[in-house]
Amino acid sequence: MVGGGIIGLVTAWRAALHGLSTAVVDPEPGGGAAQVAAGMLAAVTELHYGEQTLLGLNLESARRYPDFADELAEASGRDLGYRRCGTLAVALDADDRAHLRELHALQQRSGLAAEWLNGRECRRLEPMLAPGVRGGLRVDGDHQIDPRRLAAALVVACERAGVVFHRTWAERLTVVRDRAAGVRTADGDDLAAGQVVLAAGSLSGRLAGVPDEVLPPVRPVKGQVLRLTVPERYAPFLSRTVRAVVRGSHVYLVPRENGELVVGATSEELGWDTAVTAGGVYELLRDAHELVPGITELPLTETRAGLRPGSPDNAPLLGPTKLDGLLLATGHYRNGVLLTPVTGDVMAHVLTTGELPDEARPFTPTRFAAALTEQPA
Ligand code: GLY
Repeated sequence: MVGGGIIGLVTAWRAALHGLSTAVVDPEPGGGAAQVAAGMLAAVTELHYGEQTLLGLNLESARRYPDFADELAEASGRDLGYRRCGTLAVALDADDRAHLRELHALQQRSGLAAEWLNGRECRRLEPMLAPGVRGGLRVDGDHQIDPRRLAAALVVACERAGVVFHRTWAERLTVVRDRAAGVRTADGDDLAAGQVVLAAGSLSGRLAGVPDEVLPPVRPVKGQVLRLTVPERYAPFLSRTVRAVVRGSHVYLVPRENGELVVGATSEELGWDTAVTAGGVYELLRDAHELVPGITELPLTETRAGLRPGSPDNAPLLGPTKLDGLLLATGHYRNGVLLTPVTGDVMAHVLTTGELPDEARPFTPTRFAAALTEQPA
């Protein structure tokens, strides 16, 4: 496994449970984008036009979450911060409301459960909301998990399942007779493997030695995220995730049971830049304040930026590539935390049988190969 973020870890854990001897190469297993992500499990409220195929996989993963969370908590002895709190997506002005109405219509056409509420009903549910909230969508099925706890639990579960960790960078893929045969690490070790899974998040397109035609078309999409703390005297500040699109930008507030309130996220195409900027923090606080004015009273405890692994169609790349022995589990973009359970199951299945299960067939990495070869020289 090249990459020990949540996707690499869940793949390693599930593969080990299927009896495969498994190793993870990563200088800091459990790190990566999960250290920044808010952990919304938002299959319904993050639905976008043109992404109905991805919706199917997102819903399948959301359906598996309760059992997955129980099994992982049991295997690791760790609490995951999995909270079945639901989500309220609200509108602040007439444009937002029209946009949310369209989303609601799309959700209904897709058979998803979402209830339209007027402004007063929204505030009854969440009294801290601004008086100007014009209406919203109540989605009781969009939950949350704490991605840092999820990552830590996956490391423990992997260790207990016998996964070997190499805490170093993978420097290059080793290819022998047109077949992936392992990796060379930055420490100079050659690790042999019958199958190599590239699960390095936004870095997945940069592993040396991977032939150009199978290199995943994954790019970094920066997200800045804030963490605040809700003092006891204000609790419960919010009882569910609250989100909105304010002047075209997504803002969400994710309240944890331990008093942490996560506010995210910017979406910036700036390459490998992970600087937290005054502008990013300002915009998030400005938009969050429009939704929930009381937020300015809360201590701001952390600011951080991470890189989403974006793919050309916003959906993940799962399964075998055209290079024998090389598989991908990357490109999860905005849905990595949500897609963790189904990714683990899909990858364990393909690693043990050689076949993608039905639910993952649309996400084969080879879907981009045709587009690549059709490009003019
Ligand atoms: N899924 C939330 C985000 O990517 O910002």
